[in-house]
Amino acid sequence: MPALVLLGAQWGDEGKGKATDLLGGSVDYVVRYQGGNNAGHTVVVGDQKYALHLLPSGILSPDCVPVIGNGVVVDPAVLLSELSGLNERGIDTSKLMLSGNAHLITSYHTTMDKVTERFLGSRKIGTTGRGIGPAYADKINRVGIRVQDLYDESILTQKVEAALDFKNQLLAKLYNRRAIEAGRIVEELLTYADRLKPFVADTTLVLNKAVDEGKVVLFEGGQGTLLDIDHGTYPFVTSSNATAGGACTGSGVGPTKIDRVIGILKAYTTRVGSGPFPTELFDDDGEALRRIGGERGVTTGRDRRCGWFDAVIARYATRVNGLTDFFLTKLDVLTGWERIPVCVAYEIDGERVEELPYSQSDFHHAKPIYEYLPGWSEDITKAKTFADLPKNAQGYVKALEEMSGAPISAIGVGPGRTETIEINSFI
Ligand code: GDP
Ligand code: IMO
Ligand code: MG
Repeated sequence: MPALVLLGAQWGDEGKGKATDLLGGSVDYVVRYQGGNNAGHTVVVGDQKYALHLLPSGILSPDCVPVIGNGVVVDPAVLLSELSGLNERGIDTSKLMLSGNAHLITSYHTTMDKVTERFLGSRKIGTTGRGIGPAYADKINRVGIRVQDLYDESILTQKVEAALDFKNQLLAKLYNRRAIEAGRIVEELLTYADRLKPFVADTTLVLNKAVDEGKVVLFEGGQGTLLDIDHGTYPFVTSSNATAGGACTGSGVGPTKIDRVIGILKAYTTRVGSGPFPTELFDDDGEALRRIGGERGVTTGRDRRCGWFDAVIARYATRVNGLTDFFLTKLDVLTGWERIPVCVAYEIDGERVEELPYSQSDFHHAKPIYEYLPGWSEDITKAKTFADLPKNAQGYVKALEEMSGAPISAIGVGPGRTETIEINSFI
């Protein structure tokens, strides 16, 4: 089973970091293919907790090569500080590979992210403020700066000047801010060049060779299906393809080489930032999910919006990603509810709708139609096999599997590496 994609099936924070780390021991390469340091992936190993933003979660597995693919946007200051943070904790990061084609996030991208959000006021997206959208916008506008540009000062200067030409007009005339001086940005970027150099590689070549040699390559998504720029709840999305197709464009490994696509699915639903969320709770249940699930953003520290499981979304994730499996996470958080509502369809303008509506206006006023599944009160965090789960927890998993359209091959019953029930092996 050489190439697998692991991605978020909802609005992010499903537990991708934990799932990637779990497989890390049997994987040769872990590749981030999109997004940037807007991601916050938590990995708990023994009594140690790691919050990764830009680095693939495979960095914590000693035999695994972590790769940042061409589709990622890289803030070099964040990357270097994340690396030194791990080094201080005794983690060897020397195997990291960074695509020379990945685009850079510079300080003017973070500035643009913040001023744009402020300008939008109540219509803001609620971005992480990390410069992600502006960096991808420059990439598409063909005024982006790539990692390889750090090694040609004259090209770098020309590109930074071109990128700032228009932005400075915007900053000065529309946002009433001071213009940014190109020379200062070039100077700052050049300070990162030597330190990044040992990691820069032709990652497309390396990864295709690895797949052809039968090595195990795992593509780790950031964000989630509903935050995808094409398939998510636009415009309340991130600016990259978090869905399975992004793994190919963001790494240069073709779709015929991908064997399995695993959707990480939380046993309930969360979302950070603005945008529609049909099963969102504003009551004590929502507060309880937030508290028990520890639903606070790893990147921005914002409280996550919480709601019940939404099977319409899970089915949609199966469809647009071609999912072969689900990894259901945080089942333990639902322990203690007498009955657990699960959204099976929406009511839109008096009609029952089984599939996610393509119209955002419809989605904005979709009302969840719930079925109520019996809960359980036994502690499930020590369960090692499916049979160890109480009957009602088994029933909850089986019901979700039937509604969601792909087999549930693993279940998370706690944050730790070992708190996982493996049903079908992934590799
Ligand atoms: P990611 O962005 O998809 O990697 O997810 P985050 O790390 O942002 O959020 C997931 C949170 O849930 C983290 O704090 C994980 O440690 C935690 N977590 C992951 N799986 C489980 C699980 O099965 N049970 C519990 N209780 N926590 C989990
Ligand atoms: P992980 O990988 C949850 C959300 C932001 C905002 C929108 C756009 O940890 O699951 P951006 O800064 O990307 O332009 O913000 O996307 N967002 C996430 N929400 N988890 C994430 O990453 C996210 N990355 C971005 O909150 O609504
Ligand atoms: Mg996260």
